[in-house]
Amino acid sequence: MKKDIQVAIDGPASSGKSTVAKIIAKKLGLIYCDTGAMYRSVTWAVLNRQIDLADTAAVARLARTIKISFQPGDPDQRVFVDAVEVTKPIREGAVSSHVSAVAAIPTVREAMTMQQRQIADQGGIVMDGRDIGTTVLPNADVKIFLVASAHERALRRYKENQIKGLDSKPLAEIEAAIKLRDQKDSTRKVSPLKKAADAVELDTTSLSIDQVVDRILNIIEKSR
Ligand code: DC
Repeated sequence: MKKDIQVAIDGPASSGKSTVAKIIAKKLGLIYCDTGAMYRSVTWAVLNRQIDLADTAAVARLARTIKISFQPGDPDQRVFVDAVEVTKPIREGAVSSHVSAVAAIPTVREAMTMQQRQIADQGGIVMDGRDIGTTVLPNADVKIFLVASAHERALRRYKENQIKGLDSKPLAEIEAAIKLRDQKDSTRKVSPLKKAADAVELDTTSLSIDQVVDRILNIIEKSR
């Protein structure tokens, strides 16, 4: 396997990106970068420091100054903002409901895109997010765009919350929140959630994790 391969996996919330990206990175010995966790980390820091979300200059300043880092962990990669571990709080309600607003700030996206490219410069990588194939790594060797019905994605998140012991809202509420986030992520002006012209679209609604992983591994294999 060519070591410096770049695999971009994009798609809406709970389409299975992080789960499959992590498995593929492990199988191929590549770095894994969860860019959603980076936007969540900025949002966590904004809330933690009580910065006004409307003050986009202050939010962007914060995004440029904090250091977001990852450490291997099981089942989830551990996420840190400077020295503080934020693995769990970045998945909770307060962050989830504000992250779209933070991710829509162009200067925040510039800061994150720069950090993501620096991470990709370290070697072969599987990076997942919304704009990896279109903006962050436009020359990625393999681009995948994962989709799944909103209902199926809500069900996945609901089960995931239960397994992780996170406060879980009713299924219908999760589905409504997912639809709202899809809408915000796809209609924002800067780097909207959009399939890259050269990405392969995979509908994971009725596929198991293993099936999705196998299909992507096949696509990677063919690209070599
Ligand atoms: O994948 P996720 O649900 O953890 O992403 C959290 C939020 O961050 C989501 O609202 C979309 C945004 N995001 C983004 O705008 N660009 C990325 N590359 C990754 C995530």
